[in-house]
Amino acid sequence: MSEIETATAQALADIEAATAPDALEALRVALLGKSGSITARLKALGQLEPDARKQAGAEINRARDAIGTALAARKATLEAQVLDARLGAERIDVTLPGRDAGHGGVHPVSRTLERIADIFGRLGYDLADGPEIEDDWHNFEALNFPPHHPARAMHDTFYMASDGRGSSDGSGVARLLRTHTSGVQVRYMAEHVASGQGGPLRMIALGKVYRSDSDQTHTPMFHQCEGLLVDEHASFADLKGTLAEFVRAFFERDFEMRFRPSYFPFTEPSAEVDIAWQQADGSTRWLEVLGCGMVHPNVLKNVGIDPERYTGFAFGMGVERFAMLRYGVDDLRAFFDNDVRFLRQFA
Ligand code: FA5
Ligand code: MG
Repeated sequence: MSEIETATAQALADIEAATAPDALEALRVALLGKSGSITARLKALGQLEPDARKQAGAEINRARDAIGTALAARKATLEAQVLDARLGAERIDVTLPGRDAGHGGVHPVSRTLERIADIFGRLGYDLADGPEIEDDWHNFEALNFPPHHPARAMHDTFYMASDGRGSSDGSGVARLLRTHTSGVQVRYMAEHVASGQGGPLRMIALGKVYRSDSDQTHTPMFHQCEGLLVDEHASFADLKGTLAEFVRAFFERDFEMRFRPSYFPFTEPSAEVDIAWQQADGSTRWLEVLGCGMVHPNVLKNVGIDPERYTGFAFGMGVERFAMLRYGVDDLRAFFDNDVRFLRQFA
């Protein structure tokens, strides 16, 4: 066996013995790399006599081809082994039961808000929005509240500054947590008048409101849905029909409903709507769910709408009250206790 044949046999044995891709690569570099042993032999050919060079050249080329083929074959084998090992180690048992991610649920008040928005959306009402930190003008003044109306008192309304009537930001404007969503009526009408669309208008506004209140049917933070329609011939009959239609769509069954004459500075005439509330002991109580009425001419004037041409109706619903009746919850405060045992029932 020639010296080169011996070296080649050794190289092929080494390649076959390599057990990892890294070791194989090191062999390739040592044999065929720039300063590898086969490469060195090829470089040395130049120093040989032409005859000897021809013979040695052919021998070295055969050796190089054999080594190249062996390297490629071994590489493929090792890669397949690595892949098999990974597939073995990372195998998953698809027959095992899945891991539960722990489901959340939509809060019953959020569900109620969505349901209300959906029903009025179908009736063609535009969805409007307003700030929870409101100023006196939008929450009271523009709504025709006289300066000493009891609702403006500190025992009902949360003011932002400690003196109750001062401003918290130096602007001279009293800031308060809105006590109802009726301020959005003012904003919506004023914006539409400013852009030349004084009427007809149809909007609802859903959101949080705040009052210093707490008992079985009152919480200091709750949600209202404000509704407003302004048109040339809007009537109290339209208001009643709209609310009756809403109540039917919301509960999907009949609830006894009554309109009780009431007073709001921003509507005339005004009414409150009560719904018959079945008690656990079989008796019935009336639960007030909303206030409503025909928009007072002074309010239309305050926002620049001509009360001689336009009339309007408005309502403000207690969202939690509707949720209580729909889900049969007898204490409104339960919605905000965040007891998961209570909330899970609605998930
Ligand atoms: C108002 O807030 C008027 N802005 C409603 C209105 C709008 C009248 C447009 C006319 C035109 P009232 O204070 O009655 O009215 O509240 C409306 C509803 O909110 C009540 O009927 C009741 O369902 C709900 N509500 C009132 N206070 C609370 C409270 N503390 N917690 C939960 N719900 C409440
Ligand atoms: Mg009321």
